[in-house]
Amino acid sequence: MSLSQTKALGRAADAARRPFRWPALLAPDGHGIAYGGDYNPDQWPESVWDDDIRLMTKAGVNTVALAIFSWDRIQPAEDEWDFDWLDRIIGKLGAAGIAVDLASATAAAPLWLYPAHPEVLPIDRYGHTINPGSRQSWSPTSPVFKDYALEMCRRLAERYGDSPAVTAWHVGNEYGWNNRYDYSDNTLRAFRRWCEREYGTVGALNEAWGTAFWSQAVTSFDQVIIPRHMGGDAMVNPSQQLDLERFGSECLKEFYKAERDAITEICPDKPITTNFMVSTDQCTMDYADWSDDVDFVSNDHYFHEGESHLDELACSDALMNGLALGKPWYLMEHSTSAVQWKPLNSRKRGGELVRDALAHVALGADAINFFQWRQSRSGAECFHSAMLPHAGEDSKVFRETCELGGLLRRLSAAGLQGAALRPSRTAILFDADCEWMTRSETLPSMKLSHWHDVRDWYRAFLDASARADVVPLRADWSDYDTVVLPTMFILSESDAGRVRAFARSGGRVIVGYATGIADEHTHVALGGYPGMLRDMLGVRGEEFNILSGADDGASTAADGAGLGDPGTVTLSNGSVSRLWANVVTSVAPDATVLATYEGTDAAAWELDGVPAIVRHPYGEGEAYYIGCDLDRADIARFLRDEFSGALPAERQSADASAALVGLESESHTDASLIRTRRSTDTADFDFVINRSGQTVSVPAVAGEMVVAYRCDAAESGSPAYALRPNGILITKTAH
Ligand code: GLA
Ligand code: GLA
Repeated sequence: MSLSQTKALGRAADAARRPFRWPALLAPDGHGIAYGGDYNPDQWPESVWDDDIRLMTKAGVNTVALAIFSWDRIQPAEDEWDFDWLDRIIGKLGAAGIAVDLASATAAAPLWLYPAHPEVLPIDRYGHTINPGSRQSWSPTSPVFKDYALEMCRRLAERYGDSPAVTAWHVGNEYGWNNRYDYSDNTLRAFRRWCEREYGTVGALNEAWGTAFWSQAVTSFDQVIIPRHMGGDAMVNPSQQLDLERFGSECLKEFYKAERDAITEICPDKPITTNFMVSTDQCTMDYADWSDDVDFVSNDHYFHEGESHLDELACSDALMNGLALGKPWYLMEHSTSAVQWKPLNSRKRGGELVRDALAHVALGADAINFFQWRQSRSGAECFHSAMLPHAGEDSKVFRETCELGGLLRRLSAAGLQGAALRPSRTAILFDADCEWMTRSETLPSMKLSHWHDVRDWYRAFLDASARADVVPLRADWSDYDTVVLPTMFILSESDAGRVRAFARSGGRVIVGYATGIADEHTHVALGGYPGMLRDMLGVRGEEFNILSGADDGASTAADGAGLGDPGTVTLSNGSVSRLWANVVTSVAPDATVLATYEGTDAAAWELDGVPAIVRHPYGEGEAYYIGCDLDRADIARFLRDEFSGALPAERQSADASAALVGLESESHTDASLIRTRRSTDTADFDFVINRSGQTVSVPAVAGEMVVAYRCDAAESGSPAYALRPNGILITKTAH
């Protein structure tokens, strides 16, 4: 491995981070890819358990996450505890060689708690009490709830801390899914303390929040309010709202840490995690912050409608790899087929179960788990797919579950576990603050979404035959060659300084249209947009030209029918600006304008000839400014136009001519494939995934074949393989 790769993998070795620890399997050497899912034996009569174990063994399951929602079964009444059933099932699992990731059992509280302690319930922004009856019906700032939860944690740790079958702890479950926002008085008090810690003086808070606007100055921290419902059209101060988001994430993290510490004080030697919810529509928590407080990073990934499932998966996983700092991460949940919480829940078709799971492995997962083992027959999630479906053992889903187990065993035997994902040379930056900010309802456009733009850039890289990493803004990305900042509306001066320093010392920075407009308190940087990065970019804009994005042909200026203003604007390179175009009024003398707005729609908006895409040399490096909202095909066009070319001789391979220079670690020439490499000290594992709906020809791949899923040897010689839809090919090269 080259020095630069080693450096990139070790990026941001943060002293504040808990050391990486990975759960052992119950195999003789403890190694291997973990495989299994959430197991809820308490939903079933005990007579089913032996059959569960038999079928788990048949499927190759070696791990389960147990007791996530079992509080009422373990503590049926305040003074009554029942561990016997848990002893029995842990005993059976351990005897079968199935490791237990034991939950803190606190994700759903028992109903007996509420009549005695209604004060544990969260309050919504209208002052209504949230009712029990589902899960996470508790406030993270309720001291009473915390006492009950920590007692459960301690009792479980005391009872199972020494159990050889329990190899990891699973604290809570998807913190913040149901109780992300709580407007109770306890939370108000906690927010005031948080503000006092953050700002020190009321003067600093007034300045940061811009409270001079609408007479909102506070003269003591006791006057700080949380933005409860303020009447019909009241708009929330965006600086205050952003702080509420930050506080809320920290507040739940503090709750997690209290539960974690209650367990680790009694059982210090087993790795501990909580499952995140990273997918590109979600940003519940600032997981870059949370990642420092787990021993290994784990995620629940469910795909979202309207996007290529595989691309979305890869983008989310790229961020997981970024959160894990290049170490393997744990897929705690995904689905074998349909979920049950969308308006329409489509099933996975043949091969998608295995393909998705192996794609997660390709992107750095060393554990593949599902929600859940046995499909429930009652309750809110009984139509959610599982490893063992309603139809039973004789079913397509269970057969694929078994097939996947076999493939993962093969990867384990080949020594994949622990391999690090080789970084790209390009990092797309992600920041929770920016995502929360773009959800504000007080911006020039309510259609902004940082996360969606990260995803569009990610997919555009794939469309341009390259693969980027997704890296938290707060991580150390200085070893990359190129960084992309998509819709990072706010940037602190210190982060803007890091971006400038990166370019000055030879990096390439690509900056999106609504980026660097304001600082971390949402104060606009004055003097022309984008004020935080104007000098580096060599551009100065004075206004935003907000568009509807509707390209319905009815509103063009050319038709003279006066049907309204154009909803999109064309660029001189053929691209189209959709929602947003910056009105750039000057560019630096040493900048190069790569595209302008052009044509009748541009003229209608007085944008004809205005610079849209600009390149500017900066120090030893360069900065690109994309001043408008391009769709992913146009982003891919930009990448191809600017970065296609011959690789330097030492990086050339037979098919390298179309590679995007400096954006990727490997030449990557076919947009219908995703290629990754994971490496250990002794071997490289190369993954080739078909991302198209067609059969794709793949040239010979180095190394010995480990998995050829939906992949046929080609009839003759070259190309070597025909990779069918949902196909994936994994090879190993020892070194
Ligand atoms: C109203 C209010 C102003 C301002 C404007 C914004 O007119 O009186 O304070 O909020 O709306 O359009
Ligand atoms: C989440 C939860 C699970 C289950 C699944 C269903 O990931 O953690 O308990 O509700 O969603 O998709």
